[in-house]
Amino acid sequence: MENSGKPVIQTRSLTKKYRLGQEIVVAVNEVNLTIPRGKFVCIMGVSGSGKSTLLHLLAGLDRPTKGEVDFEGYNLSAMSENQMAAFRRKYMGFIFQTYNLIPALSALENVALPLLFAGVPQKERDKRARELLVQLGLGDRLKNRPSQLSGGQQQRVAIARALINHPRVVFADEPTGNLDSHTSKEVMELLTRLVYERGHTLVMVTHDPNVASYADFVFHMRDGQILNGG
Ligand SMILES: Nc1ncnc2c1ncn2[C@@H]1O[C@H](COP(=O)(O)OP(=O)(O)OP(=O)(O)O)[C@@H](O)[C@H]1O
Ligand SMILES: [Mg+2]
Repeated sequence: MENSGKPVIQTRSLTKKYRLGQEIVVAVNEVNLTIPRGKFVCIMGVSGSGKSTLLHLLAGLDRPTKGEVDFEGYNLSAMSENQMAAFRRKYMGFIFQTYNLIPALSALENVALPLLFAGVPQKERDKRARELLVQLGLGDRLKNRPSQLSGGQQQRVAIARALINHPRVVFADEPTGNLDSHTSKEVMELLTRLVYERGHTLVMVTHDPNVASYADFVFHMRDGQILNGG
């Protein structure tokens, strides 16, 4: 599975169409995209250009109408839902605009949760979650529930949760969309530093040029198509 020279994700003629009554919306249109390993790639475009749809296809959260996603040599279309879910847990991490933390769990428990699914013993789970939260500057907030944290703190917990299991690819959809510009900068600096140190590939959707300025590559999307290199 490991092959450092090969791109981590490649798509071929990736297409997603939605039917709305009589109308067909082509949300993603014949996209041929290569995501290089260990890099930070941004997908930019105006609202409705197909960014989230494309991200969902790359992560196997949605099935294409046509075309394929090759993820580390695996054809995502060929997997069953159960295989896909297990594959996603092992190889992918997710960061969302709205954090999506579990309200009843503490910061530490939220971050440790993916390790529980991976069968890691409790002591090891807590140790790893604590270490990562300390790295993210949240060492004094381990026991807080999400409602007892600021937006920026919640997003840092969500980042720790996405990275805890050493995923090959971290997907993020507008991760700073709910944050003010100062907090957004802080979160981006922490995220990019961790991603480089730990060797993840980061695929991020944004319409914020400040966020995109941290990326190694920026793909521009319009009307379901990648305008440069796609
Ligand atoms: N489930 C759906 N059914 C029908 N049309 C959809 C569906 N999901 C998305 N679309 C349409 O597909 C197009 C792309 O949507 P998408 O959510 O990917 O855009 P986006 O670039 O992420 O926009 P935003 O920046 O607002 O999040 C839009 O025209 C949208 O209306
Ligand atoms: Mg979107």
